[in-house]
Amino acid sequence: MPLQKDFLWGGAIAANQAEGAYKEDGKGMALVDVLPSGKQRWDALANPNKALNTTYDHYPSHEAIDFYHTYKEDIKLFAEMGFKVFRTSISWPRIFPKGDETEPNEAGLKFYDDLFAECQKYGIEPLVTLNHFDTPLYLTTEYGGWRNRKLIGFYERYAKVVLERYKDKVKYWLTFNEINMLLHIPFFGGGLMIGEDENADQVKFQAAHHQLVASSLATKAAKEINGEDFMIGCMLAAGEVYPYSCHPEDMMKAVHDNRKQYFFIDVQSRGEYPSYTNRMFKELGVDLEMEQGDGELLKQYTVDFISFSYYSSRLTSADPEKYKDDTAGNAFKSLKNPHLEASEWGWQIDPVGLRVTMNNMYDRYQKPLFIVENGLGAVDELKDGTVEDDYRIDYMREHLKQMIEAVDDGVELLGYTSWGCIDLVSAGTGEMKKRYGFIYVDRDNEGNGTGKRYKKKSFDWYKKVIETNGEQL
Ligand code: BG6
Repeated sequence: MPLQKDFLWGGAIAANQAEGAYKEDGKGMALVDVLPSGKQRWDALANPNKALNTTYDHYPSHEAIDFYHTYKEDIKLFAEMGFKVFRTSISWPRIFPKGDETEPNEAGLKFYDDLFAECQKYGIEPLVTLNHFDTPLYLTTEYGGWRNRKLIGFYERYAKVVLERYKDKVKYWLTFNEINMLLHIPFFGGGLMIGEDENADQVKFQAAHHQLVASSLATKAAKEINGEDFMIGCMLAAGEVYPYSCHPEDMMKAVHDNRKQYFFIDVQSRGEYPSYTNRMFKELGVDLEMEQGDGELLKQYTVDFISFSYYSSRLTSADPEKYKDDTAGNAFKSLKNPHLEASEWGWQIDPVGLRVTMNNMYDRYQKPLFIVENGLGAVDELKDGTVEDDYRIDYMREHLKQMIEAVDDGVELLGYTSWGCIDLVSAGTGEMKKRYGFIYVDRDNEGNGTGKRYKKKSFDWYKKVIETNGEQL
C-alpha cells in the first residue's frame, strides 16, 4: 500500500544545535550554552554544578552552524529536496531570556516570524518543538529547574505567547523534545542538578509531573487559541526494549524497562498515571506532590498525535552480569545485541526495530504517529565538493522500508523527518564530526571552517524518495 498522498516528508533540527547567535538580539543563556564538547560533555552533563563553574575552550552551541543567519539559504536547499515539513524548535531564552519575565523579547519573536514565513514561501509546513534541551539557564540557577513547580507557569506563559503569535504560520507543535530524557540526562531534560544526598528518582519524577502538567496546559492554550486547527503532539525517545533471552525474568525486565519510557506518553496520550506507577513509585521511594486540578488537566488535555525519535532498539536482561558488556545508545545504555551492527558511536542499527516500535506504540495508543527523528551519525569526508555517503543512504533506505511495512501493518503515520537534515552540533557529544545531514557544513569540532554548505550524495537520493512518495528507495 503506498503512503498517503499528503505524507509529510522532511527533516529536523533544533535551535540549540543549529542557530548559534547565542547572545544575539537579546537572547538569554540556555542551559546547553554552558556545555563543552567531546569527552568533557558527558562529565559536564553528569556534574552540571561543576560545569557551571568551569571555563571550557569551546562551547559548540554558541555558534553552532549559524542557522540564525543562514536560514534563508538553508531552507532554500530543503525546498529543493522537496520538503513538505521542517521540524525545528523555538529557543525559549530567545523569547524569555531569563524565563521568568512577564513580557517577551520582541526581537526573538521577530526571528521566528521571518523563519516561518520563509518556510511558507516554499509551502513547507513547520513542525515546532517548544522545548528542546534549552530551558533558560536562569531557571536552573535561580529556581532549580523543573523540580520547581513555578516552571509550569513560566512555560505556560511562553507557550501562550508563541502559540498566539504563530497561529497562522504553524499547525504542528510538540510540547517537549524526548520528554523521557529527563530520567536519563536530567540536566538536559529538566535543568536539574541533583545532590548526592537526594533521592534522584523523587526529584526526576516530580520534575516529570511538572512537565506533564505544563504539556497539558500548553495543549489547553493551543485549543483555546486555534481549536482543532492546531495539532499538538508529545515526543518520546523511543526504541523498543527487547529481552536478552526468552528467560521469563528477562521478559519481565523488558516489560518494566519499556514502561519506564512509555510512562510519559501513557500520561500524555491516555490522560492519567497508569496503574503500574503505584508500585513503581513505591519501590523507587517516590512520593509525588500534586495539586488539586492536576489530574483533571491531564485527563482533559491529551495530545492529538504521538511523535518520536528512533535510532535503535534496546536490549535488557535481569542478570546484572550481562551489563559488563553494554554499549552506548541515544542516552540509554543497552546490552549488545549479537544480531545487530553498530555505528561508529556504538549505536546499534535495527531497522526492523522501527517496525516493532511503531506497531507496539500504535497498539498501545491508537493515535497517529509521527517519526520526527531518525538517521545515522557518521564521519563524512568532503571530497571534490561532495560526500559519497552511501552508508547513510543504506541506513535510511532500510529504515524507510520498515516504516512502510509498519504502515502496511495498519499503523497511522503522519510523516517522517530525518534528524539533522543539515549537519549540526551533536547533542550528546557536542561534536560537529558526528554528521547526520544531506547537506555538509564546513565546520569542525573546534568551530573552525568556512560554514559553507555542500550537497552530499544523499541529497539527491532523498529528493527522489520524496518525489516518488517513498516508492523509489
Ligand atoms: C535526540 C535529540 O536525542 O538525538 C537530538 O533529540 C539529538 O537533539 C539526536 O541530536 C542525536 O543524538 P546525538 O547525540 O548524536 O546528537
